[in-house]
Amino acid sequence: MKILITGGLGFIGQYTASEAVRRGHTVTALDSLSPQVHDDALEALRRFPGTAVIDDVAQESAWSVFSTHDGIIHLAAETGTAQSMYEKDHYRRVNVEGTRLAARTAANWRVPLVSVSSRAVYGEGDSVIPTSESTPHAPLSEYGVTKSDAEMLAVDVCRGSVPLTIVRPQNVIGFGQALSNPYTGVLSAFLARLKEGKPLTIYGTGEQTRDFVHVSDVAKLLIWALENATAADSPRVLNSGSGERVTLNQLAEYAIHASPRRDTAVTHVDVKRAGDIDHAAADITRLSEVGAPLPQVTTRDAVADFIQKSWKLDGANSSAWDDALEELREKGLTE
Ligand code: UD1
Repeated sequence: MKILITGGLGFIGQYTASEAVRRGHTVTALDSLSPQVHDDALEALRRFPGTAVIDDVAQESAWSVFSTHDGIIHLAAETGTAQSMYEKDHYRRVNVEGTRLAARTAANWRVPLVSVSSRAVYGEGDSVIPTSESTPHAPLSEYGVTKSDAEMLAVDVCRGSVPLTIVRPQNVIGFGQALSNPYTGVLSAFLARLKEGKPLTIYGTGEQTRDFVHVSDVAKLLIWALENATAADSPRVLNSGSGERVTLNQLAEYAIHASPRRDTAVTHVDVKRAGDIDHAAADITRLSEVGAPLPQVTTRDAVADFIQKSWKLDGANSSAWDDALEELREKGLTE
C-alpha cells in the first residue's frame, strides 16, 4: 500500500512509517515540523523512510499536492493537555480542522482512514476499572474536547463512504519522544531532572495512575488497523494501551532504576494542572476480539528503553518544565 501519514515526522509517526516499510508499504508524510516537538528538524527528515511534504494539516491547500494514496493514517495533532486550556483556538484548528480535511481526503480518494484520537475523550477514568471503548465521551481538557469533536466529524464524513478506524492511545512513551516540550510528557521531565542530578518532581501525591504504552506497540496497531480496515465494521474504535496501570510514583521508580543515578530522590509538588485527570487505564479486550496485535512491551521495559537510549541526547533543562508550570499558575490554570 501507498500510505499517507500525517504527523509522519513526529514521534509516533516515525515508528509507524518504519513499521509500514518493514511490512512492504511505501510512505509519504504530511507534517508541519512543529518546533515545539522537533529539536532537530533535519534529523527528523533524514530518518523518515519516504517522501515528506512540510505543510500545515489544517490548511486545505496542503492536501491538494497529493495524488491518491491507498490509505491515510492521521496522526498530526497538538497534544498538550494543559497547554490546550489557553491555546484553545490553535488546538481546535489543528486537531478538528486537520481531522476534517484528513477525512474528506480519504472520502475523495475512497480509501480507508485510521484517525488517531486520544483516551482524553473519556475524561476522568476509574481508579480500578479500565475504560472500554463504549464509555461515553466526557473530556475534561480542551485537548480532549478537540479530540472528541474530531472523532465525531470523522465519523460523519466517512459514514457510508470509506472505512474508518479511530484509535485512542493512552500515554505513549519510548525513545524518540520530544525532550524539549515542557507542556506534556512527564517522562521527559523525569529524564531532564535525572540528568541534572535533581529530584524528580511529581505533581500531587503520585498515586494518580496512567497507562504507558510503548510507541512500537501503537505503531503496529495503526498499521494493522489500516491493513484490516473493513466497511462492515466501520467506524471501528480501538483503545491502544499497555494493559498495565501504573502510578506516577511507580513510573518515577522505574525511571530512576533505569538510569545511572539510582540514588535520585522524588519530591511532591502540591499542584494540579487544569485539565489533568487522576486516573487512566485502557480496557484492551477489544483488540483480541478483532484480532489486532496486543501490546508486547511492559511499562518497565518501555521506561528503560526511553531513559537509556535518550540519556546522551540533548534536551531542554528541567527549568523549562518549571517555567511551563509557572506559566500555568500565572494564567490561573492550576489548583
Ligand atoms: C498524555 C499525552 C496526551 C494523550 C493523553 C492521553 C503525552 C506526552 N501526552 O497527557 O497526548 O492524549 O496522555 O491520556 O503522553 N506530571 C508530573 N510531573 C511532571 C510533569 C507531569 O507529575 O514533571 C504529571 C501530570 O500532572 C500528570 C501526569 O504526570 O498527572 C502525566 O502528564 P503528561 O505526561 O503531561 O501526560 P497527560 O497529561 O496524561
